[in-house]
Amino acid sequence: MNRFEPNLRIPGPTSLPDAVREAGARQMVNHRGPEFAVLQNSIIDRLKKFYKTDGDVLIVTAAGTGGLESAIVSFLSPGDKVLAITIGAFGDRFAKIATVYGADVTKLSFEWGKAADPAKVREALQAGGPWKAVLMTQNETSTAVTNPIQDLAKAVKDVAPDALVIVDAISGLGAVPFDTDGWNLDVVVSGSQKAWMVAPGLCFVSVSKRAWDAAATAKMPKFYFDLAAHKTSAESGQTPWTPAVAVMFQLDAALTLMEQEGLEDIWKRHAAVGAAVRAGLTTLGFKLLADPEFASDTVTGAWIPEDLDWKTFNGKLRKLGLVVAGGQGALKGKIFRIGHLGHVTVPAILNAMAVLEQTLLELGRPVVPGAAVEAAQVAALKSLGLVK
Ligand SMILES: Cc1ncc(COP(=O)(O)O)c(C=O)c1O
Repeated sequence: MNRFEPNLRIPGPTSLPDAVREAGARQMVNHRGPEFAVLQNSIIDRLKKFYKTDGDVLIVTAAGTGGLESAIVSFLSPGDKVLAITIGAFGDRFAKIATVYGADVTKLSFEWGKAADPAKVREALQAGGPWKAVLMTQNETSTAVTNPIQDLAKAVKDVAPDALVIVDAISGLGAVPFDTDGWNLDVVVSGSQKAWMVAPGLCFVSVSKRAWDAAATAKMPKFYFDLAAHKTSAESGQTPWTPAVAVMFQLDAALTLMEQEGLEDIWKRHAAVGAAVRAGLTTLGFKLLADPEFASDTVTGAWIPEDLDWKTFNGKLRKLGLVVAGGQGALKGKIFRIGHLGHVTVPAILNAMAVLEQTLLELGRPVVPGAAVEAAQVAALKSLGLVK
């Protein structure tokens, strides 16, 4: 971030560290040759550490939605009973993909701003079935809520042990605590443009042994997103179709940065920026959308007060170099969101708070100068254990 570069505070694509940007400018290699095989094998081994899995991780050239689609078509058949737990727009999208391909989808929706309740999931599972799969969203980017995935997956294991647990972890994995194998997750999807600090273009899908067994009999129509084809190709260091080679170069560089920082410290940094954003926005007088117990550490959503014109407000923010995201689906025009994942630091959040303060002052709103910046800084320092 510098004078001429905006503070891009949307929940992905995130801004890129210089080393990642530069890596993307490298000359191409033969994607069917030895250099690519070394690159892909190394990336996969390293992704597994961030996923915390000994299962397979496949790299698919597509937006995150492609990764979700690959999970549906590779492991399910038309008519399969699927419970789709949804707490927002992306949970709805996942349910829709399964419906479009002919799964027999039961949607279990929770109020936007709330997390899914494991007890209600148990009830829903008991009331139907036999379930082939349960879909869930780790971090619902549209509502800025992080689901208790471990508890939800446990509910599935207890009530419907044969069901595959398929998780959209696109906007949280690599930023906040996650344990693919420890939580018994069968399929987990993530996307390059989120916590991974890489341009859009790649998604990653982990696959358990149980999921591969299901793939052997899955009858959904598929071609590009057939994960079995990706696995076969990966075994010889390739991808079935031409991959986004430049994004792979970037990912290689980003993983090096992430390894240097260390997974636990990455999680701590996200906890600190999450706390900082929530404290700063609250001090500015905004009401937050998410249930505080499940507030996301990668994105925060705040209600736009009725007497604040979103277009004017957002235009002024942009002029001062702060780019935030609007609401999605039913929340369009009602909330704004601040992304804080991947390439994000506490000082970048303090900058965002300073811009928000100035903008609100320009709009004549009652703001105590410096208060939000201070509240954000103190919250971050508390989160990091540096002050009480
Ligand atoms: C939780 C979640 N799921 C799915 C998606 C869709 O990813 P993409 O836009 O890369 O298709 C996003 C994107 O923001 C997301 O945050």
